[in-house]
Amino acid sequence: MRILLTGSSGWLGRFLAPRLREAGHAVVGLDVAPGADTDIVGSVADRAVIDLAFGEHGIEAVIHGGALHKPDIARYPKQAFVDVNVTGTLNLLEAAAAAGHDRFVLTSTTSLMISEAVRAGKAGGAGKAVWLTEEFGPLEPRNIYGVTKRSAEQLCPLFHRAHGIGIAILRTGRFFPEEDDTHRHLSGENIKANEFLHRRLTVEDAAEAHVVALERAPSLGCETFVLSAPPPFHPDEAEELIRDAPAVIARHFPHAAELYARRGWRLPDHIDRIYDPSKAEQMIGFRCRTDFAAVLAALVAGGTLPFAHDPTYVSPKESTTA
Ligand SMILES: NC(=O)c1ccc[n+]([C@@H]2O[C@H](COP(=O)([O-])OP(=O)(O)OC[C@H]3O[C@@H](n4cnc5c(N)ncnc54)[C@H](O)[C@@H]3O)[C@@H](O)[C@H]2O)c1
Repeated sequence: MRILLTGSSGWLGRFLAPRLREAGHAVVGLDVAPGADTDIVGSVADRAVIDLAFGEHGIEAVIHGGALHKPDIARYPKQAFVDVNVTGTLNLLEAAAAAGHDRFVLTSTTSLMISEAVRAGKAGGAGKAVWLTEEFGPLEPRNIYGVTKRSAEQLCPLFHRAHGIGIAILRTGRFFPEEDDTHRHLSGENIKANEFLHRRLTVEDAAEAHVVALERAPSLGCETFVLSAPPPFHPDEAEELIRDAPAVIARHFPHAAELYARRGWRLPDHIDRIYDPSKAEQMIGFRCRTDFAAVLAALVAGGTLPFAHDPTYVSPKESTTA
C-alpha cells in the first residue's frame, strides 16, 4: 500500500519507514523537519499540506506518528500541542475518511494513563503497583502532552463510527534513546535496562508493532493497545513489587542481581506501575521480541545491549530550527 507516514524524520520514523518498505509498502514521509525518509516537509496541522500530500501521492493509508511529545513541553506553548496533536490528527482522519481509507494507525502514548496520583506511586502512599491495561481509568493525563494525545485518541471512534475506518491506537511505552529527564540517580543504560521490566520497548519493536497494526486495522473496528516489553510479573505480585522489587525479580531471574553487580548496575528497589501489553498479543498477535530476559542475556554474553542509548539524541525539528 501507499502509506503516508507522519513523523518520518523522527526516532520512530527512521526505523518504521524502512521496515514498511521491507513489508512491501511504498512510504511517503511527512515531517516538519527534513530527513532521509521525508518526502514532504510540512506540518500535519496545515490541512492544505495534508490535502496536497493525498492529492499528489495517492495515499491509501496513514500511520500518524508525528507529534509534539514530552520533551517538547519545555519548548512549546500548549497551543502548539493542540495544533499539532489534536488538529493534526483531525486533519489526517478527515482526509483519510474523504479518501475512503479502510485503516488508520495512531501512535499514542502510555503517558496519558499516568495521573498525578499514579505518578506519585510509592512516595504518594500507593500500597501496590498499578497494573496498566487498556481498561485502566478514569484517565487523568497530567500534562498537555497527555491531554492532547488523549484528545487525538478520542477523535478516532468518531471516524470509525461515521466512516467505518479500522483504527489501531498504539499506546506505546518508552522507546526514546536519550537520557531520562526526571531520574538521575542511575546511569542511563541502567535505567533503560530496568525499564524493560515494566515500561519500555525497543524502537525496533515499536516500529514492528505499527507494521502489524497496519495490516490488522481493517478487521479491528477501533481498538487501543498498550505496547511494552512483556513484563515477567503477575498481578498477584503487585503488592510485593512496591515493597520489595528485588525479591520479586530474584524469583523470576535468579542471576539478575549478580549480573547487575558485575556491571555496577542496580535493580529497582520498587516498581509502582506495570504496562501490560497482553491485549496486543491476543488480538493482533504482536509481542515485543526484546524483553528483560534479552537484556540479561546480553549481560551474560558481554555483548552489545539490545536497546539504543544515545544521550545526544535531539528530535530533528530542534536541530533544524536551532
Ligand atoms: N519516544 C518515546 O519514548 C515515545 C513513547 C510513547 C509515545 N511516543 C510517540 O511516538 C511518536 C514518535 O515519537 P519519537 O520518539 O519518534 O519522537 P521524535 O521527536 O524523534 O519524532 C517525532 C517527529 O514528529 C515530527 N513532528 C513534530 N511536529 C510535527 C508536525 N506539526 N507535522 C509533522 N511532523 C511533526 C518531528 O519533527 C519529529 O521528526 C510520537 O507520536 C510520540 O508521542 C514516543
